Amino acid sequence: MTRKVYIETVGCQMNVLDSELVIGALRKQGYSLAQKAADAEVILFNTCSVRAHAEEKIYSALGRLKGHMDRHPEKVLGILGCMAQKDQELILKRAPHVDLVCGTGQLERVPELIEAVRSTGRPQMALSLGRKDASRTDVEASFISYDPVRDATMRPTPFQAYLRIQIGCDKFCTYCVVPSTRGPEQSRPPEHIYAEARQLADQGCREITLLGQTVNSYRFDHGDGRNTRLSDLITTLSDISGLDRIRFVTSFPLDMTNDLIDAVRDLPKLVKYFHVPAQSGCDEMLTRMKRIYTVAQYDEMRQRIRERAPEASVSSDFIVGFCGETEESFQKSVEMVERSVFKNSYIFKYSPREGTRAFEKFADDVPEETKRRRNNDLLVAQNRQSLAIHRAFIGKDVEVLVEGPSLTAKRESKRQGQPYAPDAPVQMTGHSMHDLITVFDGMPRLAGSLVRVRIEEATAFTLFGQIVTSESSGRLDESRLAQARHASARPVASQKPGTIVLPMA
Ligand code: 5AD
Ligand code: SF4
Repeated sequence: MTRKVYIETVGCQMNVLDSELVIGALRKQGYSLAQKAADAEVILFNTCSVRAHAEEKIYSALGRLKGHMDRHPEKVLGILGCMAQKDQELILKRAPHVDLVCGTGQLERVPELIEAVRSTGRPQMALSLGRKDASRTDVEASFISYDPVRDATMRPTPFQAYLRIQIGCDKFCTYCVVPSTRGPEQSRPPEHIYAEARQLADQGCREITLLGQTVNSYRFDHGDGRNTRLSDLITTLSDISGLDRIRFVTSFPLDMTNDLIDAVRDLPKLVKYFHVPAQSGCDEMLTRMKRIYTVAQYDEMRQRIRERAPEASVSSDFIVGFCGETEESFQKSVEMVERSVFKNSYIFKYSPREGTRAFEKFADDVPEETKRRRNNDLLVAQNRQSLAIHRAFIGKDVEVLVEGPSLTAKRESKRQGQPYAPDAPVQMTGHSMHDLITVFDGMPRLAGSLVRVRIEEATAFTLFGQIVTSESSGRLDESRLAQARHASARPVASQKPGTIVLPMA
């Protein structure tokens, strides 16, 4: 009998990718995936520390598992990722039934650590060095990148995959834990990225999303005077046959250079979308956040995207209720949303994080009630913009990469207890080339193909339409589709229990 592992993932796309890699490595050791923690010999939580709420949820889940672990001392319980790197021994103090604590930069070692827990009967910790603990070179070396072990069943869909091009962050925004939990910014060599993208395409992947905390700061120094920028990298990746779409997240406003904007405009495979968080529309707040740009600089960058790549959609993140945020400074964020025409914004209430500059220097002086109201008010302003953007597509055709049955269709099939037949008429969903969620009538067998959809209706979050034509059979590579369909026939959704995906910091 194979051993079973259960994994629950909280946090950003980086964490989803890390979980895929950990499961890929454990499958190589003969593990299979369990659907419930109770059915597994190894129970893992891949964690997020960006906001307190995400951590509290993990500690509650650990509390609920205490009895189970006491009854099954042979089982291994592990905390992986950002919380492991941030809280370290504290995790063992708060939850002594945890056996394994492994930071973001040491995940390669998970299989070996599980074995060490079994053979020694003692908890195992694997952590990277703190940012101030050693020289930059040594700290960098302690964050190991181990991306090539890919596992298709852990992906959002069999046709879409994340690909890390950069680890860590050097920006040190005052509210953010990421520079310590994910370490120094390091760009991966373009040859490694190209080989991995090729491997993903060979596995039937049609869309890759390049990941980096400040992805547009990507720069690889070849050591012989040559440098590869993100736009160069994407131009090279565009050659890979089988890949139809390339996206990249998350961008930093000051590093938004014209070569990248022009690449988004000109490269047919590049999704016309930028996720470029503003965080606040008020200069005093931006200074306190140490975002190193002004509102005027952000506006100038937004205007440049509008002029050079008018088709591209842009989304943002905002933090409301940051230390010292007055009603007047908050209104400046509302005004920024009103003039910037973001397709959507992810809005967060400020959550003080121990170890950050803001935690040490500024009082968390905006009451929770005010944070909540500002969050709602900003969302209302954003939704007005989102609705206008989506409605502008009514009557137009968009190209959609079909992901699978829509949420409504999935709920209906679950309620009826019936799986879909490949040719049954069912509501399907996917993303347009501008990254807009699009819902239309189709059939499950279209998953993984590109279709043209004429938009008839729109809400603030979704386009609704009908297929005009699907991919011509000449372009459709039947063997790749069959491979991808085979992958989708596996119970993909149920293999990602508890996955909550948020944007990256
Ligand atoms: N509190 C609230 N939101 C935060 N973010 C990062 N750190 C914090 C924090 N301490 C938000 C930022 C970032 C997104 C991923 O999370 O908006 O872009
Ligand atoms: Fe880096 Fe983004 Fe965090 Fe700023 S908010 S420190 S850019 S990860």
